[in-house]
Amino acid sequence: MTVRPRMYHELAAWFHLITAPDDYAEEAAYYLQVMQNIIGHAPVSLLELGSGGGNNASHYKKLVPDVVLTDLSEEMLALSRTINPELPHLQGDMRTVRVGRQFEAVFVHDACSYLTTEQDIRQLAATAFEHCLPGGVAVFCPDHTAENLVYETDHGGHDGQGRALRYLEWTYPGPPGTYAFQVDYVYVLHEDGREPRMEYDHHVNGALPRDTWLRALADAGFEPGAVPLVHSEVPEGYSEVFTGWRPR
Ligand SMILES: C[S@@+](CC[C@H](N)C(=O)[O-])C[C@H]1O[C@@H](n2cnc3c(N)ncnc32)[C@H](O)[C@@H]1O
Repeated sequence: MTVRPRMYHELAAWFHLITAPDDYAEEAAYYLQVMQNIIGHAPVSLLELGSGGGNNASHYKKLVPDVVLTDLSEEMLALSRTINPELPHLQGDMRTVRVGRQFEAVFVHDACSYLTTEQDIRQLAATAFEHCLPGGVAVFCPDHTAENLVYETDHGGHDGQGRALRYLEWTYPGPPGTYAFQVDYVYVLHEDGREPRMEYDHHVNGALPRDTWLRALADAGFEPGAVPLVHSEVPEGYSEVFTGWRPR
């Protein structure tokens, strides 16, 4: 099933009111620390696959001199350029993109939650390995694994300049026998001088077993690992970040 989330296409200009760049400072610092713990220093070059609105990048770019951002969606790249105008942005699928050079760090934040099969994860691991310098590190942050997925509802949103957004998010199972699960969103959009409007959106995400991640990373050539996600808004021990060190 191919799904084209409206959030990343015709509604992309609203994305920073769903999740605001300022809220990413703590997370971005943590991922840099994870990379530093593995390679012994902060990376000097970093490729992000699925960089979305560039929220994480807007923070880690202050400490990493050479950053390249990639995403499937041209609309999301355009949004990211508004807050990261100095960074190169390239369109590409994290499973197949080839940017023609290597980096000390490859970073895949929550965008890898859109991969739903073992084959997808293996393709991503191969892409990350190919772009990772020997001695470098890759970091992967799926929202869920098969072990910690729970179906729930959430809500949020932000006020902006002359407009505001609130959303309801509702996760529920996907087709039996798959790792896919479904996410419905309802957005309420306020724009000065207009009647509020409501939009529906449907996403399909994946929650792959932990072992599938670790095996895919090992088979790609990485020395795989996992560290707890440490974040003030995530319950301790709830989530893990997968890592791959590329041997020299
Ligand atoms: C939640 S957003 C990422 C936000 C990002 N973490 C940030 O800091 O702004 C998810 C992104 O994943 C991208 N995406 C989904 N599937 C992808 C794929 N196969 N390859 C590359 N990007 C993908 C979407 O286009 C979207 O921009």
